[in-house]
Amino acid sequence: MKKMTQENLKSTFSGESQAHMRYLIFAGIADREKNPNLARLFRAIAFAELVHAKNHYQVLGGIGPSTENLQTSIDGETFEVEEMYPAYKAVAELQDEKEAQRTTYWALQAEKIHAAMYQKAKQAIDQGKDVELGDVLICEFCGYTVEGKAPDKCPICGASKDKFRKF
Ligand SMILES: [Fe+2]
Ligand SMILES: [Fe+2]
Repeated sequence: MKKMTQENLKSTFSGESQAHMRYLIFAGIADREKNPNLARLFRAIAFAELVHAKNHYQVLGGIGPSTENLQTSIDGETFEVEEMYPAYKAVAELQDEKEAQRTTYWALQAEKIHAAMYQKAKQAIDQGKDVELGDVLICEFCGYTVEGKAPDKCPICGASKDKFRKF
């Protein structure tokens, strides 16, 4: 692919991905405000942005079979754990940005677990089996991720058990 088209597609993938996320967040706010039609509108258009993002990503060659997708996922999470979040957290400390320190710390802790969960999944998938997986619980405040049962209190942010969403 020509370099400029590739750069443009990377940029649109990023923009559409952000719009998808933003609209899902806004839909949650509309739910809370008891405006179900507005929530539905945000969710519908978020889905369209997902379709756009997927199409761009496919043209960029980013989508493969699960074994490749897991390697992409492991590489992404590992980069976040080893390079990106520690560096971002250090800058937030240097600049005394307390809230940014907290959100980067929260994300860093969860990404470590995500990398390990994807590693385990890849071992199974590479042997031609689906991964054995119990319930996956996510803290809705900090994103802490755990397989099995929700702890009484989130070990990262202290949220109570009922604040975990099950997948
Ligand atoms: Fe992650
Ligand atoms: Fe938490």
